[in-house]
Amino acid sequence: MTLLPKCLFAGLILVAGVAVAKEGVQDPTVKARMDLMGTIGMNVKVLGDMATDKVAFDATAAAAAKEALIAASADISAKFEPQATDPVAEAKPEIWTNWDDFVAKGEALNAAATALDPASLDGVKAGMGAVGGSCRDCHSTYRM
Ligand code: HEC
Repeated sequence: MTLLPKCLFAGLILVAGVAVAKEGVQDPTVKARMDLMGTIGMNVKVLGDMATDKVAFDATAAAAAKEALIAASADISAKFEPQATDPVAEAKPEIWTNWDDFVAKGEALNAAATALDPASLDGVKAGMGAVGGSCRDCHSTYRM
């Protein structure tokens, strides 16, 4: 249960200056997209820990994580559109040469999160396959 407030208030935490992004990132545009990925990662962890029985199923926490994932994935194209670089960035330049495909992969995550049924543990387990698959599908092509 300690993860949930973190996710819900990730925006506030960032305003307070606690970074989610990788240590040492300088460029503010790169930091913003890393923070977005960090938010996505936190919420996937909430669902993944339930799906793998690491934590007890909690329908309220699952629903909150689902909503946070939908919102964050809808923001992927806006956060990645400016082609910024940073020594610690892991974004491949192909993102901007294959932009439509990159956007489609972000939309695939959004669709997978939307389809996930957070009302039962079986629903979370069933939905996590597509969510995790969409992370891998984009990272394997566009992340170093
Ligand atoms: C549309 C493409 C795309 C999708 C979908 C996507 N990612 Fe990413 N992700 C990236 C890229 C590109 C980077 C590298 C960004 C950089 O370093 O500038 C990244 C980086 C990350 C990072 C590291 C952030 C940091 O601070 O360096 C995490 C964690 C992460 N993604 C988690 C996830 C998870 C979990 C999912 C699935 C639920 C996911 N991502 C889905 C493209 C994507």
